Amino acid sequence: MASILDYETVALIDEDDAIEIIDQTLLPGTTKMIRLHTGQEIWDAIYLLQVRGAPAIGVTAGFGLYLLMKHSNAGTYDEFMNELQEKSDYLNSSRPTAVNLSWALNRMKQHVVEFCNGQFDKEKVIVEMRAESERIKAEDIDVCRRIGENGLTLIKDGYGILTHCNAGQLATCKYGTATAPMYLAHEKGMNIKVYCDETRPLLQGARLTAYELHSAGIDTTLLCDNMSASLMKSGAINAIFVGCDRVAANGDAANKIGTSVVATVAKRYNIPFYVCAPTSTIDISTPTGEDINIEQRKPEEVTEMWYKERMAPEGIKVYNPAFDVTDNELITGIVTEYGVLHAPYDVAIKDLFERKSAVTAD
Ligand code: MRU
Repeated sequence: MASILDYETVALIDEDDAIEIIDQTLLPGTTKMIRLHTGQEIWDAIYLLQVRGAPAIGVTAGFGLYLLMKHSNAGTYDEFMNELQEKSDYLNSSRPTAVNLSWALNRMKQHVVEFCNGQFDKEKVIVEMRAESERIKAEDIDVCRRIGENGLTLIKDGYGILTHCNAGQLATCKYGTATAPMYLAHEKGMNIKVYCDETRPLLQGARLTAYELHSAGIDTTLLCDNMSASLMKSGAINAIFVGCDRVAANGDAANKIGTSVVATVAKRYNIPFYVCAPTSTIDISTPTGEDINIEQRKPEEVTEMWYKERMAPEGIKVYNPAFDVTDNELITGIVTEYGVLHAPYDVAIKDLFERKSAVTAD
């Protein structure tokens, strides 16, 4: 029988001019693949979290921009670039915090500019856009695997590991970021126990992380978010791995709401707290966590969703930010595809990007 890990999180379906995704709002009860054809369908799927997790959002945006330009009527380079910008701005407005969205869209636009280099052959540009969007996906798989290998160096046999939200395969194209070291540890026959915060209000930990890790045969335990301090105090947790949506230039990291609570408690009990981040999630143009735009979501997610009947008084005010920022001093290490970064993060991140651009220039 197929497991959830056998499905592709995001795929381009050429013959249907569509993106195929698993509708993650229906998991774990129903595994339903849906196809997105129009700009509005792609926008809605990202906004509604049918596809979610920073890297998967980026891959969807890359495929989306290609598909939206595939049948463009632009006759000149300028017309094409104006339309490209307009479609890119539209997709970019679907969610504000995960930088992989704008990163992928900018990468697609930059590729068009470099490929054209003053000349314009629409058919060739479209072929190039398709190739670039598939490269973004292929790189995501490679990068997650490398994050897994680097993260694995921080895990010992017998470890209890806590994670928050879903930075798993469902948030990427394979392996996940925070879950990649867990999958590799399991592959190597290491004995690990993973604890998943359920992650209120949208339950990504319960519905997605617990589901995919359990399907992989990993020893998985689910807990409510407010139980993690007692678990940490009990000594069951040796390390914490989480994903992130945007790392600022000083190492402050935005991730699912509640992550900073976990990091603060981890500091209290001396438990190492690792943020797993592909370099596409590190935004050196954002100086600190204060500068990260945090998405605010609808009150109904807190008061009504998942319940048979409303569980809060009518008219009550609701605080529902989708993300919070973990201060860099609470982070033991940032696990990237190039290695594990340590404080001072402003220096480590600057150095990483300098090394990366030197490699790309070769
Ligand atoms: O609102 P979501 O479900 O998109 O939030 C996802 C997270 O916070 C993940 O931890 C993050 O995007 C990293 S995914 C590898």
